Amino acid sequence: MTQRSQWASRLGFILAASGSSIGLGNIWKFPYVAGQNGGGAFVLVYLVSILLVGIPIMMAEFLLGREGGKDAIGSFARLAGKNSPWCLVGGTSVIAAFILLSFYAVVAGWCFDYVVKSAAGTLQHASPEQISALFSDLLSSPGQMIFWQACFLMATAAIVSCGIQHGIERWSKILMPLLFLLLLYLFVHGLFSGGAGRAAQFLFSADFSLLTPQSLLAAVGHSFFTLSLGAGVMITYGSYLDRQADLFSMAIKVSALDTMVALLAGMAIFPVVFSAGLDPGAGPGLVFQTIPIVFSSAPMGWLLAVVFFLLLAFAALSSSISMLEVSVAWLVDEKQWSRFKSTTLLSLGAFLLGLPSLFSFNLWHDVTFFGSLTFFDLCDKLITSYMLPLGGMAVAVYSGWFLKRSSSQCRQSLCCAQSWIYPLWSILIRFVAPVAVAIVFIQQLGVI
Ligand code: PFF
Repeated sequence: MTQRSQWASRLGFILAASGSSIGLGNIWKFPYVAGQNGGGAFVLVYLVSILLVGIPIMMAEFLLGREGGKDAIGSFARLAGKNSPWCLVGGTSVIAAFILLSFYAVVAGWCFDYVVKSAAGTLQHASPEQISALFSDLLSSPGQMIFWQACFLMATAAIVSCGIQHGIERWSKILMPLLFLLLLYLFVHGLFSGGAGRAAQFLFSADFSLLTPQSLLAAVGHSFFTLSLGAGVMITYGSYLDRQADLFSMAIKVSALDTMVALLAGMAIFPVVFSAGLDPGAGPGLVFQTIPIVFSSAPMGWLLAVVFFLLLAFAALSSSISMLEVSVAWLVDEKQWSRFKSTTLLSLGAFLLGLPSLFSFNLWHDVTFFGSLTFFDLCDKLITSYMLPLGGMAVAVYSGWFLKRSSSQCRQSLCCAQSWIYPLWSILIRFVAPVAVAIVFIQQLGVI
């Protein structure tokens, strides 16, 4: 048997796992979801949810991966038994990560397109109407979108096919520091743009009268998406970890980096939105339509726009490699396929599955499901609202109640240092996390 890959260093693992969690969710989604849900109070619930639900589940995923020592399905099979129904949890998470990759690549393709547009100066001195038209033009050009979607998936596949140390770890070590630098640059620009005070007030002063049950649940749901939980990513990445690594401190570091980037992104984006008198609750178009309007008239605006869209593209890439790795690890571990063959076929599959999502914005705009959902909306809803929360809940229930490891083994595995961590984790993973996710899930079904 050949030796299974491992991360070359703990730092490499932390950067790769943070690379997965820091993605479009932080820079594209977090600011507009916070904007639509009242700002500060939403941010507070989101932080509490990261602490009480996100971190315990991330620790559980790392634990299952490291104890199982295989891909998401193989780890469940080793721990729970080959024919155990728990293997289905691994199976659905592999499918979730694959579907997610298919439509994530479509949006990530827009980022690539905008890097080129900004570098070419197309956004510079354009009127708000022209900027709006540019975005609509992109959405109505399937050929252009396919080109960028394919470029993005090829970049993802190229990295994953080079393996854990030489592909994912090496590129995370390049992409993440670059991402922090770019974000810092934009953050400092935001501080001097005149809207920083209002942005900080918007993000950090909590007005609880604005907090509806819906926004509360949106905060819990988003904490899941942003930490890449429920899709087998952290199980797979955990399986390449050495036995001595302290999973508690790893989960804290990854979640802290992810949260810091979301807040920094908010503090980079909202000041410019406020100083230009634009609407912070503008929705998904916020970064593709609102932000270019601001940059189009700023001095050196084209450079800011290039930096901003590069930042988005890097963040998306470090997340998409983790999505692809989930199913690649399954084929490599369980079916003994070569990494190259698995990566090539799966990325081709993700490309094909992404086409109906891509056509949802143009050719198949009128093809809808369950009323008004396009294929893209359907995939997004299926994954973000159902599969990730359910996958996360199953991980919590399994590791809290069914994992046949002695508590001293788990204790040792999870937290080498402090004695209070394990009992607290036990309570959170057995009771708090499953109940919180169950409430989110029930809400998605429209029952509450
Ligand atoms: N965490 C990523 C983001 O914030 O964009 C999205 C994501 C990646 C979700 C990987 C789930 C996943 F398995």
